[in-house]
Amino acid sequence: MTLEFDEIKSIEDAHLVHTYQKFPVAIVKGEGCRLYDVNGKEYLDYMSGYGVAILGYSNKKVIDAVKEQVEKLSILHSSIYSEQRALFLRRLMSVTPTGLNVAYLANSGTEAIEAALKVALKNTKRKKVIAMKGAYHGKTLGALSLTFSEKYRSSFQDVVYKGVDFSEYGDLSDLEKGRNLDEFAAIFVEPIQGEGGIKIPPDGFLKGLREVADKHSMLLVVDEVQSGLGRTGKMWAHQHWNVEPDVMTIGKGIGGGIPMAATIGRAEYMNSLELGEHTSTTGGNPIACAAGRAVLDVLVEGRVIENARTSGASLIRALNEKVSSLRVVREVRGKGLMIAVDLKVRFQEILLKAVELGLLTLYSGRTVLRLLPPLIIGESEVLNGSSIIRDSLIWYEKQHI
Ligand SMILES: Cc1ncc(COP(=O)(O)O)c(C=O)c1O
Repeated sequence: MTLEFDEIKSIEDAHLVHTYQKFPVAIVKGEGCRLYDVNGKEYLDYMSGYGVAILGYSNKKVIDAVKEQVEKLSILHSSIYSEQRALFLRRLMSVTPTGLNVAYLANSGTEAIEAALKVALKNTKRKKVIAMKGAYHGKTLGALSLTFSEKYRSSFQDVVYKGVDFSEYGDLSDLEKGRNLDEFAAIFVEPIQGEGGIKIPPDGFLKGLREVADKHSMLLVVDEVQSGLGRTGKMWAHQHWNVEPDVMTIGKGIGGGIPMAATIGRAEYMNSLELGEHTSTTGGNPIACAAGRAVLDVLVEGRVIENARTSGASLIRALNEKVSSLRVVREVRGKGLMIAVDLKVRFQEILLKAVELGLLTLYSGRTVLRLLPPLIIGESEVLNGSSIIRDSLIWYEKQHI
């Protein structure tokens, strides 16, 4: 069965909630770093399904692991022991930071944050939490209370968790202004803010948060849902600054496209959750666990994280050469393959031009083109993608300036 683009669009527009900012394409297939639409047009993908497709779209090891598991056993609740779950947990703990060795397995990043919030509140018996201005932690009500943007919160302002205070990202001195930190359970922070516009904190910020958390007996919760799993050129982005979190949330790419996320923390904190207090019917299912183990194997053994570091550096260099002197560009910044082209104008027309020229990119706020390519991109994809971004920006300048 093959539907035309217009039919697909009209069905989705009629029957899917209108909460997604749609791109004018319908994709049917993916291979490596490329996606193909209903008409066979090829796109270079700098979007990775919002950062999920860290290994691209056709990694054989992940496909084989999923296929084998689907045929054998597709679902098993976590109340029953599972070989796949045990193998995944063992693999996961081989890459988590020292001391973080108990996990809650969830299906999405926002659920992982919900669990982290409960862990923090329960452990400290305090009711308040610090999150950062510009933060994005998800949209379920608990996670939404930690998400900064008015656009996501305003309709639910009265029902989100009330105990959250937002502090200036990157500015330690703001933490203690007007608050008694002994009343707070935890600090939630993204090591690099993604949705907030690829904001990289100054050196010393995360370490400073660790010190403040220790001083006031708060937990430090690091949200690696977007920045983790090699995205920034290290397994975990917080490792760029040698800081040790108490709890870490991960998601997106861990399931190789199968929904999966996790809250991983020190046993003393995670095990404060008691029987039945936080569970999920499908979290930790055998398909996701089989996929997750294959993803971690490929990430580590396939030298994918090294590639993210070197290709990320090449992409930032190429963008600096090709676009940073253009009038509409404010700045190119990033770490590994978590990159922003910060513009002086709104991104929409430029993003749509890039789509027309065969490149899919993300965005943040109003003026940032956010680039999250698969971590497997090579030199030719770096050159090709950066050239399309340059051409789209030059086209925009010709139209408007
Ligand atoms: C840092 C961060 N935390 C949490 C989430 C929420 O993840 P999900 O959309 O899987 O619920 C996201 C999603 O973009 C994210 O970037």
